[in-house]
Amino acid sequence: MILVFLNTIFFMRIDIVSAVPKLIEEVFAHSIIGRARQRGLVEIHLHDLHAYGLGKYKQIDDYMYGGGAGMVLRPEPLDAVIEKLKSERHYDEIIFMTPDAPVLTQNTVNELSLKQNLILIAGHYKGIDERIRKLHVTKEISIGDYVLSGGELPAAVLADAIIRLIPGVLNDETSALTDSFQNGLLSPPVYTRPAEFKGLKVPDVLLSGNHRAIEKWREEQAYKKTLKLRPDLLEK
Ligand code: ADE
Repeated sequence: MILVFLNTIFFMRIDIVSAVPKLIEEVFAHSIIGRARQRGLVEIHLHDLHAYGLGKYKQIDDYMYGGGAGMVLRPEPLDAVIEKLKSERHYDEIIFMTPDAPVLTQNTVNELSLKQNLILIAGHYKGIDERIRKLHVTKEISIGDYVLSGGELPAAVLADAIIRLIPGVLNDETSALTDSFQNGLLSPPVYTRPAEFKGLKVPDVLLSGNHRAIEKWREEQAYKKTLKLRPDLLEK
């Protein structure tokens, strides 16, 4: 009953537009995301740009005006698929995945997890015609300061990060709240059985049953780890 209630409130739909949707089909078919889809918590629709391509050869890209190496995605196919989707429902954000954009953070993921309908555009080649950005794109996101061969993996990364925050997707709802970055710190180390492995022991405090001491130890460890590996997070 509660799940049905959450479901009606937090249902999300993500449309991903790509020249090679096959690249990421499997990403959404298994494990946590696959189960979330089966349970109706999220719908993911992959759209192949070639279905909107031009002419006999379903052309989707072309040479760059002004010269330069690499092809650019033409505006017409992208515009056609986006206009079609927009005519069917309202979209909260139309996001273009591109390395020349602000880098994704957990804050952005948290914000996007509260939306209902999102379009993610995976670019390819040298990018997309600038007019699509002007006409349709409401947000641009990079997943890091490096260049991938297309926007499909970045779109999958973003969708995964968002979907796992939708209520009901993770079994233990607190586990998303204790993720790295949710409190600005990296996660503390975790252990499972056995209590000793190859001479390495699980810290005594974790076996003590003293929840306050365990909490304190985790906070200290999270802080120490962040200081060592990501001091920039503490400066923020
Ligand atoms: N497309 C290619 N590289 C990318 C990146 N780092 N982030 C988002 N989209 C991309």
